Amino acid sequence: MDIIIKTNYQEMSLAAASIIADLIRSKPDCVLGLATGSTPLGMYRELIRMHKEEGLDFSQVKTFNLDEYLGIGMDLAKSYDQDRSSARFMQEEFFKHINLQKVNIHLPDGLAKDINKFCAWYEEEIVRAGGIDLQVLGIGANGHWAFNEPGSSLSSRTRVQQLAQQTIDDNYESFYKKAGVSKETMPHFAVTLGIGTILESKHALMLANGEKKTTIVAKALQGPVTSEITASAIQMHKGKVTVVLDLAAAAQLK
Ligand code: GLP
Repeated sequence: MDIIIKTNYQEMSLAAASIIADLIRSKPDCVLGLATGSTPLGMYRELIRMHKEEGLDFSQVKTFNLDEYLGIGMDLAKSYDQDRSSARFMQEEFFKHINLQKVNIHLPDGLAKDINKFCAWYEEEIVRAGGIDLQVLGIGANGHWAFNEPGSSLSSRTRVQQLAQQTIDDNYESFYKKAGVSKETMPHFAVTLGIGTILESKHALMLANGEKKTTIVAKALQGPVTSEITASAIQMHKGKVTVVLDLAAAAQLK
């Protein structure tokens, strides 16, 4: 496991973006696993800059997103502030600024009629694409990866997952409150890639910044591997693992 510690969020974001850009340049048709959340935003902005100013070419890149809330999907009738789907986030913050082909973008469908069938299909699509070359990951405050909440099996596959109270509280504050949606009516379930699925990626690139993540980062990277902190499964990843942190998030690492 390579742990790269940068002085601040901006430096962390640039380091992560350059790892992805190097992969795209060496393998233009690579498969990227992508994450939502505030953590990767700076990385997406730097990749957009590289596309616009340096011609970084996404035309053959395939993407698979990690998760989506259940019961919602991108709603073009709503403003970005009202529509809190992960699909909308990706579109606004990344996809619409680069030259990815629509056909190469894969997002879990929170509106799928037969959600279990969809989950199986999503897994098959990843395999058909040749597997995920590089999986971008953040970490939730309770140590979750994607929406694999505490107690999720470390060999879990893509499925529907009930959100933990802490995740509901965090996401209410960061997303739904602004959209005028109450805590009771916001989504309490999500579709998520499983930990087993994530562990099959060839390269895991995990990012974390800020004091809010200090304790959980130390537990995930250096504590016991446990389904109570699903990101601790990073220690079991058999491929390449890179963790990029800012100083605050790295503060409790031994
Ligand atoms: C959500 C996402 C995760 C993400 C986490 C942390 O729960 N499902 O993939 O890592 O939020 O978000 P943030 O980066 O905003 O701290």
